[in-house]
Amino acid sequence: MKVTVIGAGNVGATVANCVAQREMASEVVLLDIKEGIAEGKALDIWQTSGINNFDTRVVGVTHDYSRTEASRVVVITSGLPRKPGMSRDDLISTNAEIVTSVTKNVAEHSPDCFIIVVSNPLDVMTYCSYLTSEFPSNRVMGMAGILDTARYRAFLAEALTTSPKDIQALLLGGHGDTMVPLPRYTTVGGIPVTELIDNEKLDAIVERTKKGGGELVALMGTSAWYAPGAAAAQMVESIVKDQKRILPVCAWLNGEYGLKDIYLGVPVELGKNGVERIIELDLNEKETALLHESAKSVKETMDVLDKLRAK
Ligand code: LAC
Repeated sequence: MKVTVIGAGNVGATVANCVAQREMASEVVLLDIKEGIAEGKALDIWQTSGINNFDTRVVGVTHDYSRTEASRVVVITSGLPRKPGMSRDDLISTNAEIVTSVTKNVAEHSPDCFIIVVSNPLDVMTYCSYLTSEFPSNRVMGMAGILDTARYRAFLAEALTTSPKDIQALLLGGHGDTMVPLPRYTTVGGIPVTELIDNEKLDAIVERTKKGGGELVALMGTSAWYAPGAAAAQMVESIVKDQKRILPVCAWLNGEYGLKDIYLGVPVELGKNGVERIIELDLNEKETALLHESAKSVKETMDVLDKLRAK
């Protein structure tokens, strides 16, 4: 069983590395348009197989989609990353062109695959891939919520001096400053987080989480890759192993949460049929308002894409 990763930049290479190390597939194909880069990174990852004890073959190719034929899952990481001072939305037209062309090739060579989009601006690039592929919506999804939740859990673990393993949390909404962390749905070893931390500290963590991607861009001059790559790999794993994990994923809404025809981060069950179920939480008024505000801002970027595509 084959998993393909499009884009051999930092995020793409990290996804390929995680998928291989955890033996999620028999083969990982890493594809890039830049000659040699995918081949080199794939070879480098493959050369860790004897050290890290895996037998997943890792193959790199330059723009040769025939090697991606019949992939079960394709992760799209192509596109420009953010530079300091840029918002994710600043990337929309350039990355829409890239994601459209990549998706056409992916859909042609793997008509039955599941697509996980990682390119930014995340929610709208997922929408772009959905429109281009003409796949059913359970097969096209975006990675953001797992990453944002992981950041939130890491910050909480630090503040509480506890293990992130024990922190269960959930985040809804778009992958941007309007994302909606839900302290009410955050527990530490089964204990509601609000019993362990005061509101002021929790609010500061929520704010830091919302700007978590930007914090890294400011530090490194480009966007993050270890956590984004690991998060996308976790989605691959839940699909290929039919784990039916409940994870926050950017999914197509059809009336859930009072929202329709929009890609947005919500908890879903992820299994062999992709997005098998969207879980609707009983949100309070404030949480619903925040989610709808986030939806409004995502919808605006989707409208920008619709106009670009109509040209
Ligand atoms: C981030 C980018 C991947 O949040 O959007 O780091």
